[in-house]
This record gives sequence, structure tokens and C-alpha cells, in this order.
Amino acid sequence: MQDFKIAIANCLKEKIEDLTLEEIVALIEVPPNKEMGDFAFPCFKLAKVFRKAPNMIAADLAENIEAKGAISKVMPLGGYVNFFVNKSQLAETVINDVLTKKEKYGHTDLGQDKAVVIDFSSPNIAKPFHIGHIRTTVIGNALYKIYDSQGYNVVRVNHLGDYGTQFGKLIVAFKLWGSKEAVEANPIPELLKLYVKFHEEAEQKPEMEDEARAWFTKLENGDEEAKALWQWFRDESLKEFARVYDLLDIEFDSYAGESFYSDKMGVVIDQLKEKGLLVQSQGTNVVDLEQYNMPPALITKNDGSTLYMTRDLAAAIYRKNTYDFDKCIYVVGSQQSLHFQQLFKVLELMGYEWSKDLVHVPFGMVALEEGTMSTRKGRVVFLEDVLKQAVEKTKEIVLSKNPNAKNVEQIAKQVGVGAVVFQELSNSRIKDYTFSWSRTLSFEGETGPYVQYTHARCCAVLRKAEEEVTADINYDLLSEGDGAEVLKVIGSFNKAILAAMRKNEPHIITRFVLDLAQAFNKFYHDNPILVDDVEVRKARLALVAATRQTIENALALLGMHAPERM
Ligand code: ARG
Repeated sequence: MQDFKIAIANCLKEKIEDLTLEEIVALIEVPPNKEMGDFAFPCFKLAKVFRKAPNMIAADLAENIEAKGAISKVMPLGGYVNFFVNKSQLAETVINDVLTKKEKYGHTDLGQDKAVVIDFSSPNIAKPFHIGHIRTTVIGNALYKIYDSQGYNVVRVNHLGDYGTQFGKLIVAFKLWGSKEAVEANPIPELLKLYVKFHEEAEQKPEMEDEARAWFTKLENGDEEAKALWQWFRDESLKEFARVYDLLDIEFDSYAGESFYSDKMGVVIDQLKEKGLLVQSQGTNVVDLEQYNMPPALITKNDGSTLYMTRDLAAAIYRKNTYDFDKCIYVVGSQQSLHFQQLFKVLELMGYEWSKDLVHVPFGMVALEEGTMSTRKGRVVFLEDVLKQAVEKTKEIVLSKNPNAKNVEQIAKQVGVGAVVFQELSNSRIKDYTFSWSRTLSFEGETGPYVQYTHARCCAVLRKAEEEVTADINYDLLSEGDGAEVLKVIGSFNKAILAAMRKNEPHIITRFVLDLAQAFNKFYHDNPILVDDVEVRKARLALVAATRQTIENALALLGMHAPERM
């Protein structure tokens, strides 16, 4: 599509000396409906230069631009010059592009290897990886794929919550009531139980809190016993997280969590002091942010222990020094918006000009539909259970539709997990939403399985055709009607990726791929593909192949697979 914009801009440039080619390209729009053409050039900005009304300028330009090559018709409409592109040339460009670039179709090297750090997932040790965590995990992974596709060098950081006073509590609880075997058999639920019990008991015996603080101080000072226990809680928890990441096919480049910064906060606190930013308030040390209408940022507590904020300050500085990022993105729920505003402000006050490159990408909460059951005791729904159940249910559905299906395990994993991922990404990030099994696993409507099914349908047609698909076809046959509509969507893939990247909103890709599936299914319904007429058959097969490839690529950006059969 960009090629067409450039062709149009070149024609306009001959008549408009006051704008550069880039400026003209940037002004070109897509009209709201297709009767108005494929592209439109607004003349409002030229009114001053030309000393004429925009509609007069549009009429003049339209009269003087010849429709040839990529352009089939030029028409003025109000203050716009509308362009109709040569549809058969458009079809050729799009199909050639997809079939030659294959899994790289839609990708660019816009990012020129600049580093982008994405902090996502970041669960807390000894706490469940629950359904609420799925959003950061899935959105973060999609953003990674999206930036990566545009030539950025993405560093995926899991900022594990593996430090803080709660580990003192856990040590006390474990020493009182814990059993090594029980934790090893069922790490997170068991550790969670200990943590809950600590709080119940501490209500009666407040001195336990002091004990917990003492153990955390020991941990901070490198006490062997404290460290060994903490390390073990961490290892056991990580094993459980690893299973979830494995199901989701997600990897990280760094697991530098909060504990990683335990020896890197001293310098930050010194810097804050030197710059006169640290003030005492009721025994604690804070950075006052009243001027900026924010509560103070808490840096150290009475007993000198550090906080979540302190570690985030150290982490941001460490990441800048280590990766020299162009952008550092935090995919974290909107409940933490204030925390990030404070964090970015403190870094700015410290004089780090790159604090402007820090971005909090917030998302809304996930509620559970009434009656949604957790398979384990307690109120939390574990993400691992959700994913496993999705796989099981998918297996049943696949087998009920096709009892002889091969590779059922793999298909069920790709479709079941994909269904959960797609549902996560089909809502705009910031909206709260309710998790529902029936919606997640529906094969109809705007769901992951529906898109994957469309892909499998393309594969089935291509298999059945048993002939080579080439781009050497009669493009006039795809210049209008349902086929042209499909190509129009395919041709807008890169635009969708860029919009998703600019807004950090993977849901734009889900929308794109649903539009593509819908356009294709309409085409498929009304246009038989494997017909006797060789020219028609070849053209339609090329369209099927281009659709298939584009669906695969779009799903890949969402972190999903595109099975060939289902
Ligand atoms: N562990 C935190 C939580 O579960 C999220 C951490 C996000 N990243 C960060 N750099 N603060 O709420």
C-alpha cells in the first residue's frame, strides 16, 4: 500500500512545489468509504500557499493529474483529491509481497536494532500465578513480538517479586509449621498456606511481625540460613512458573527480579541524598512529590529496609546502563499507575533525561464469571489450571467433530491455549473484563478458534488443490469483488502492526485478523476455488495462499500458533 501512496505522492509533487515528497505522503489519507476512492489528498493546508479555497485547489489538481499506471481515476471532492488505484496492480503488489516475504510479510527494519526493554509478567514468588497475571504475560509477549517484527532489539525482563519483608514472614511461618516434603510436592499453594497462616496467627501475636522483620534483615545481611530458605522458595516457585510459560510458549531474556537489586539500592539512596531529594518523614525517608500532586515516594522504612519503589529505581537505572534502551515498557495493571507516575517523576528529578522514555502500559482487571470454579481450594483461579482446562475442553470439542483427528494433543494445546490468549487480547487493554469459559472456547464468533479454523480451512483448500501456487496469475481476476476486499485487508497488515506498536495495543492485531478471517470467509462462501477454469483457479488459489500466510503471521504476533488442521 505504501507503494501506491508513493506513486500518488509523486504525481502530486509535480504540481505542488511547496511540499516535500515526505510531507505529501504523510498527508495522504484513506477515505471513510470506498465509493470515495482508495486514497485522498486533503488540500486545506495548501489554501494559504496557493491563496485559493481548498475545493478550488482540489479541482485544479484533479484536472491536471493524469490517471495512469498505478492510478486508475482522479476525482475532486470538496477539499480533497480522491484517487482510485489500479486494482489489478494493487492485487499484484500485495500478493507478490506476501508470497515472496512469507513469514516476514508485514515486518520491517524500522527499529534499526534499537533496544526496547519490556518488563512483563513479573509474578511474585510464593504467590499464585493466577488468572489476573495472564494479562500482563500475554500482552507483554505480544508487544515483544510486535516490536521484534519491526526490527527492534527487544529485551524481555521478568521483574520477579522475589524480595521484600514478606520473605521474613515466610521464613518464620516455614520454621514454625512448614514441611519440606509438602512444599516440594505442591510449592506455591503450600507456601501460600503458610503465608496466610502467618497473618492469621500474627493478629493474636504481634511479636511475630518483629520476628519476621528480623529475618528479613538477616536475609538482607546475607545470613546463610535465611538465604538458603529464600533461595529454595524461589527455586520451587520458578519451577511452577516455568510450567505456565511452557504452556504459553513464552521466554524471557532476563529474570532479574527485585532481589537482583538488593546490592544496587545503596548507590541510588546516596544519589537521592546528594541531590537533596530525600527527606525524613516520621522516621522514614521519602521523596516529596507534593508539588506534582502526588503522595511522597517511600524509599526506606524506619528500620532502613528498602521498598518496591527503591528496587524499581535501581532497576530502571541498571536497565539504562545495561541495555541503553530507546524505550522501557512496564506492562502492569492500572492499580499501579500511581507507583509508575511516582517512579518516573523521581527519576526525572534525579536528572535522568531518559525518564521520558519510560512507559507504563496499564491494563484493566480480570473478573471471574459467576460460578467459575477453581479446581483447587481457595478463591484463586490458577492460570495453569485455566490453560490446562482449556486444552482438555478443546480436545473434547475436536474429537466430537472429528473422532479420527490426528495430533489431537498438539492441536488441542495450540487451540486451547490460543483461545485464552486471543480472548485476552481481543479487548482493549484498559477495559476490565470478565473471564468466561463458554466465550473463550467457542469456535464461533470473534474468537481465537474461529481465526485458527479459517487458517486450517485455507490449508485444506491448498492441500486439496495439489498444485503449485504461484504469483504468476491474471490479476484482473482479483481486481474487484470479494477477492479485492480480502486483498485490501491483507494490504493493511503493516499499518495495523504499526498502530498496535504506537499505542502498545495488541488488540489492533486481533481486530485485523478477525477482519481478514471475515473477509476471507465471505469470499470462500461465494466463490468456488477449485474450478475447472485454470486462470480463475490459479488466481483464487494465490489469494488463499496469501490469506493463509497473513493469518499465520498475525497470529504469530499475538503469540499464537496456526495449526494446519483442526
Ligand atoms: N510483581 C509485581 C506484581 O505482581 C509486578 C512488577 C512489575 N514490574 C515492575 N518493575 N514494578 O504486582
